[in-house]
Parts: sequence; structure tokens; C-alpha cells
Amino acid sequence: MRLKVLLIATAFLLAGVLLALLMFERQLPALLGGARQITTGKALIGGPFSLLDHRGRRVTEKDFRGRYMLVYFGFTYCPDVCPAGLQVISEALRMLGEEKAQKVVPIFITVDPERDTVQQMASYVKNFHPRLVGLTGSKKEIAAAASAFRVYYAKVAAEGGANGASDDYTMDHTAITYLMGPDGAFIAHFSHGTSAPDMARRLGQLIR
Ligand code: NI
Repeated sequence: MRLKVLLIATAFLLAGVLLALLMFERQLPALLGGARQITTGKALIGGPFSLLDHRGRRVTEKDFRGRYMLVYFGFTYCPDVCPAGLQVISEALRMLGEEKAQKVVPIFITVDPERDTVQQMASYVKNFHPRLVGLTGSKKEIAAAASAFRVYYAKVAAEGGANGASDDYTMDHTAITYLMGPDGAFIAHFSHGTSAPDMARRLGQLIR
């Protein structure tokens, strides 16, 4: 009798261990390849954020539900990469045509909240698409948003430097544009260097 109970208990334990192993096995490739599989890792990109827009209003991802988001992370002091990326987004939305473009909110999230204040963002976004939303926040809020989008950024000492407090560093950052759906889920990404016509064509296929 004792032996029987022991055998049954052991069988259950083994089954449990086997099940746990199987579940881990299935998640292992996702864990290992997650960072690189940007196009397939749907659930891995995007998530909740709480930031200040360039008019000083607090916004979260929920404020954009029902509309597509084109999300780009960067910083206003960026000499060329960010302006080029935002130019492409603006141009692609113009090429897309009003009907579809209206469903898309272009969003620029700073990775340099120290210098990119609400006022700084407000004057910067004017240079690009008229509906471009600039988002900033505390260091912690920006870190959380960047982490949700798997965006890398880091402060780097500028060459030459010492031109005054605000000029002595630059930011390294991921320069990818993310297309998020009306439900907030990741749809596609555009790598840096994508042309405006290519982005417009792809958006035309993806946006309904
Ligand atoms: Ni940049």
C-alpha cells in the first residue's frame, strides 16, 4: 500500500517535471532569438507607456488606441540620423494619401529627456509632419518606454566636447520605425535607410 502511493506520487512528479521542461523548451528559442527577431516577435515590441506630449499633456498608449502609431525613438540634438528618419516618416505619410494617413499618428519619443524638455520637443516637431507628436518624460518613464519597444540607447561623450554643458554628449540609439496597430500591437518595422516611397508603399498595404 505504502509503495503504491509512493509510485503514484513519483509518477506525478516526473510528469510535472516533463511538462515544465517542455514548456521551457518551447520558450527557449523565443528567449534566445527575441532581441533579433524584430519582425516576428510581435508580442515582444510595444507596451504601456506614460509620457508628456509636446503640449505638456500626460499621455499613455491608450490615448492612441483606434489609430495606427508610427513610433520613432531619437533625440532633438541628433545631427542627422533622427532628422532623416523623421523626414522619411513625414514624406511617407504625405505620399500615402490623406485617407489612410489620417489613421496614423507619427510619434517621436526622445531618449534624451535631460535636454528634450516639453518646450524643446514642441519647437522640434514643428520641423516635420504637422501631426507629429513629440513625447518626453522623466528618465525613468523614458527608460520604461524604450524598454517596451526594445529600443537601445546610451549617452556617449561627444568628440571635441567641452563646448558647454548641453553639447558635451550625444546619444547612441536604435533608429527603427515601428508600426503599431489600432489595438496597440506591433505590425511591422522599418529599418533606418528605408526610403519614403518604400515606406509609403508598405504602409499602403498594411493600413486598412
Ligand atoms: Ni538620432
